[in-house]
Amino acid sequence: MAAIEPAVAQGRRVVVCVSGGIAAYKAAEVVRALVRCGADVRVAMTPAATRFVGPDTFAALSGHRVLIDLFDASGEVAHVELARGAELAVVVPATADLLARMAYGHAGDAVAATLLTVTCPVLVAPAMHTEMWEHPATRANVDTLERRGVTFVGPERGELSSGDVGIGRMAEPDDIVTAALTLLARGQDLAGRRVVVTAGGTQEPIDPVRFIGNRSSGLMGYTIARAAARRGAKVTLVSGPTNLPPPPGVELVRVRTAEEMHDAVVAVAPDADVIVKAAAVADFRPQKSSPVKLKKAAGPPEVRLEPTVDILAELGAHPELRKPGGLLIGFAAETEADPEALARVAEDKRASKGADVVVANDVGSSDSGFNVPTNRAVIATARGTRDVGLVTKAALAEALIDEIAGLLAEA
Ligand code: PMT
Repeated sequence: MAAIEPAVAQGRRVVVCVSGGIAAYKAAEVVRALVRCGADVRVAMTPAATRFVGPDTFAALSGHRVLIDLFDASGEVAHVELARGAELAVVVPATADLLARMAYGHAGDAVAATLLTVTCPVLVAPAMHTEMWEHPATRANVDTLERRGVTFVGPERGELSSGDVGIGRMAEPDDIVTAALTLLARGQDLAGRRVVVTAGGTQEPIDPVRFIGNRSSGLMGYTIARAAARRGAKVTLVSGPTNLPPPPGVELVRVRTAEEMHDAVVAVAPDADVIVKAAAVADFRPQKSSPVKLKKAAGPPEVRLEPTVDILAELGAHPELRKPGGLLIGFAAETEADPEALARVAEDKRASKGADVVVANDVGSSDSGFNVPTNRAVIATARGTRDVGLVTKAALAEALIDEIAGLLAEA
């Protein structure tokens, strides 16, 4: 745990949730290390976990009673008490069964109920046999949880309890503690900051039912907005049409066209410490939009296009539209997977659009860009370029916010 100061855990409430796998014994080391860092650790166990390690072990290490029974006789709603004060929840180990229950929002035992109640960051250390980890059901559950902002540490490839060698071995306690400290350090590093994020694609009407649009699902922007809010920012999300639910605690401004997005962003720009333009804004729109549905029988219409306003370039060229010292962040959508080429584009676009940061992402591969949960990206700042590689959009959002928090702190 060299990189992060253990002191970040001092006095912080961490809930450790233990589920029933052979790796449960390693949870004791995690609890002990977090307590040594000064964290106020509380433990919840599934009934199955108690078959691997006795609750007295965790009670002795944490100095607190362990929550196992949802229907505790004390009269308190114990899992709510436990969840409300938590600044971090660490699930160690997370079995395939618990991941499935988390993904579906089950609350049938103290661990699942606590995890459904917490609003703090959640760190998960899965441990299971390779076949279970690779099963499409587990893959889907992990995707769902990552999309909700859950952070995963491991699993690793190595010897499993069955004696087989493969992926599924729980991360080492030191690595879990390092990941926990990293999340605690991130904490509220955007507290007091106002962040504007744009997301989704715009729709430029041809007539009342047809439009020029694109394949943006909005996921990248929504994930950034959610992560910024979780790290303490007051977030305004200016969104084109999407099927996504609004992230909790975020002010949502719905728009449809590039012009509406322009007006919404310009209205909030003077107060924004950070503007992140993850939306796929139409570059062109029909010169005229028919007020009535165009008839098929009239033959193919001639649709003449005109450019839309480039919102990012306008904000870059006119700093007076923005808060002094505020950061302007653009995305660059490129059909390019090579990190060096992405880095060149990111740097060029940063200069040409007057942005402080540009995230160049690959939109030409099936696992990256539009309408998929992962993204391959390079982040360019004045300090240089950083190849993030192929990661979940949640991980890219956190990496981007790490850069933003660093730049704000320097300023
Ligand atoms: O929504 P998802 O399905 O998750 O997909 C995410 C994404 C691929 C859409 C996202 O990661 C992304 O790349 N967004 C930017 C898409 C884009 O419009 O790229 P661009 O290279 O054409 O534009 C560069 C920048 O200028 C972008 O920040 C864009 O928001 C901005 N722009 C573009 C045109 C315009 N008229 N006004 C703008 O502000």
